[in-house]
Amino acid sequence: MANPSLLILAGDGIGPEVMAEVRKVIDWFGTRGLAFDVTEDLVGGAAYDAHGTPLTDATMDKAQSVDAVLLGAVGGPKYDVLDFSVKPERGLLRLRKEMDLYANLRPAQCFDALADFSSLKRDVVAGLDIVIVRELTSGIYFGEPRGIIEEGNERVGINTQRYTESEIERVARSAFELAMRRGRKLCSMEKANVMESGVLWREVVTEVGRDYPEVALSHMYADAGAMQLCRWPKQFDVIVTDNLFGDLLSDAAAMLTGSLGMLPSASLGAPMANGRPKALYEPVHGSAPDIAGTGKANPIACILSFAMALRYSFDMGAEADRVEAAVEAVLADGLRTADLLGEDGVQPVTTSEMGDAIVAKLAESV
Ligand code: NAI
Ligand code: MG
Repeated sequence: MANPSLLILAGDGIGPEVMAEVRKVIDWFGTRGLAFDVTEDLVGGAAYDAHGTPLTDATMDKAQSVDAVLLGAVGGPKYDVLDFSVKPERGLLRLRKEMDLYANLRPAQCFDALADFSSLKRDVVAGLDIVIVRELTSGIYFGEPRGIIEEGNERVGINTQRYTESEIERVARSAFELAMRRGRKLCSMEKANVMESGVLWREVVTEVGRDYPEVALSHMYADAGAMQLCRWPKQFDVIVTDNLFGDLLSDAAAMLTGSLGMLPSASLGAPMANGRPKALYEPVHGSAPDIAGTGKANPIACILSFAMALRYSFDMGAEADRVEAAVEAVLADGLRTADLLGEDGVQPVTTSEMGDAIVAKLAESV
């Protein structure tokens, strides 16, 4: 069988710096007989500098043909003057749109060594491991009509929440599939009490749930869900919600666990001919121009994004566990990049030292 294929788009700023550390992890798996066919290409400002566009058609075609795309970050002040149509972010948006990545997975996972880093009590977050699935391609950010109109003597701002049955169904299916691989518990959040789109959301999720009798499905109003996420997040395993609520809930849940430098994500689309979903994995953070080139970037978010690729694109759950355990182990040893430092006088390690330490833990684990 052919090796699994991976397109790496490191992008701008700290993107290439953190991706270099992911390459060490990928190369380590290569030495263990688990080789990936890796292609590298340009996205964002780097692609603009080389080709005058943040994503060429050739790169787009490659992204459509590989098993998974791994992206670093795009953007930077150098590109602020560019026309909107060629801004670095447009490259990422084009990938998401043309690959039709409708399910955005945002884990909130608390590594024990960082539990005191949270704004919540250690008890509440220690051992936390949940995933929020946010619908990404429809809902109020896209619905028509929209705009600012004149009505009588004043202006009116309009956005429309609109969900079709099939849009709800496909993201619900992604969430149930995810729940099947995890704790078999899914909580769907909407506002069916005040929104018709929420009523339909609840109905369709319930219908899809009949195909997954092993998954315990519950429903919660999204505002109550926000409270419960702060009160006792460990009651959840997988949460599925719409684009707007997911935007807010996933940012809030992410912060339960600490630094932006720790947060991975996956965006999944429809299953391809080989049964794998279209997939793009990326850290939640941006290109961090303020620290680019200084060796301060935390590579863990990007390394954990690769672990998600192992789990969700390549069915390599044991390997994904191994990467996460290596991250847990270096943190337990007290290694910290600058973003993870408290006030206890610990000396930070560099981006590359963190990557090396994670690979060393991987090697110890066999
Ligand atoms: P950012 O996420 O790049 O940085 C926010 C803060 O977090 C900065 O102080 C940065 O130093 C720190 N930080 C981020 N990642 C870190 C890491 N791995 N290790 C240590 N510290 C880290 O967001 P910001 O500053 O709003 O945006 C900077 C640029 O990135 C902009 O051009 C923006 O458009 C772009 N951006 C790109 C994203 C993407 O590619 N998906 C997402 C967010 C922003
Ligand atoms: Mg957001």
